[in-house]
Amino acid sequence: MKIIKVENYETLSKKAAEIIAAQVAEKPASILGLATGSTPVGAYQELIRMYKRGEVDFAGVTAFNLDEYHPVKKSGDQSYDYFMKEKFFNHVNVAKTFIPNGEAADHAAECENYEKLVYESGGIDLQLLGIGNNGHIGFNEPADHFPAATHYVALDESTIKANARFFENESDVPKNAITMGIRTIFKAKKIMLLASGAGKAECIKEMVGGKITPKNPSSILQLHPDVTIIVDKDAGRLL
Ligand code: F6R
Repeated sequence: MKIIKVENYETLSKKAAEIIAAQVAEKPASILGLATGSTPVGAYQELIRMYKRGEVDFAGVTAFNLDEYHPVKKSGDQSYDYFMKEKFFNHVNVAKTFIPNGEAADHAAECENYEKLVYESGGIDLQLLGIGNNGHIGFNEPADHFPAATHYVALDESTIKANARFFENESDVPKNAITMGIRTIFKAKKIMLLASGAGKAECIKEMVGGKITPKNPSSILQLHPDVTIIVDKDAGRLL
């Protein structure tokens, strides 16, 4: 694991955007794996600025998002579909975008379909990740095994609590989601995980140096050959 410690969230976002832009410059037809949540928003903003200045061109890029709530209305402002359009896709020229379908009537079929789409794309070149306080990556929640493929998941109580900040009431947070599995994520040639703020310090320490266990899904990243972790001072304070 390569660890990059930076001063603050702004520098973290710039660094992450630079790495994504460099990936796209090197391979214009890159397949990017993208994440939602608060952490990557600054990197998306920076990439939008770079795009507007003509410093990056996503015309050949395909993007696959990690996860989506289920059930959720795509057009509703709580869906990850909506989030990605608002925060990134509506402002740049990414050629093709894929997000698990939170409206799918048959979630098992949607998981299978999404897994197939990722594989048929030729595989993700660079996967962007955040990390949950409970160590989740994507919505791979602490469990007694590492789920391999894209799957339907019951969200952890702690994830529902953490994500309640995006909803009016905690009871409005969907209880289920569709997420890429650990193997889906591991097929990515490169992984870049971002973490900001003191609240992430403990899970970052455990991810980097703790026991590899499905009880802490992020710990499996210790086994991936090309992982870059960018942390700000607060998130990296226990390293
Ligand atoms: C989002 C995702 C999650 C988040 C994680 C951290 O697509 O898969 O794993 O990356 O919950 O969220 P934030 O960045 O809001 O702290």
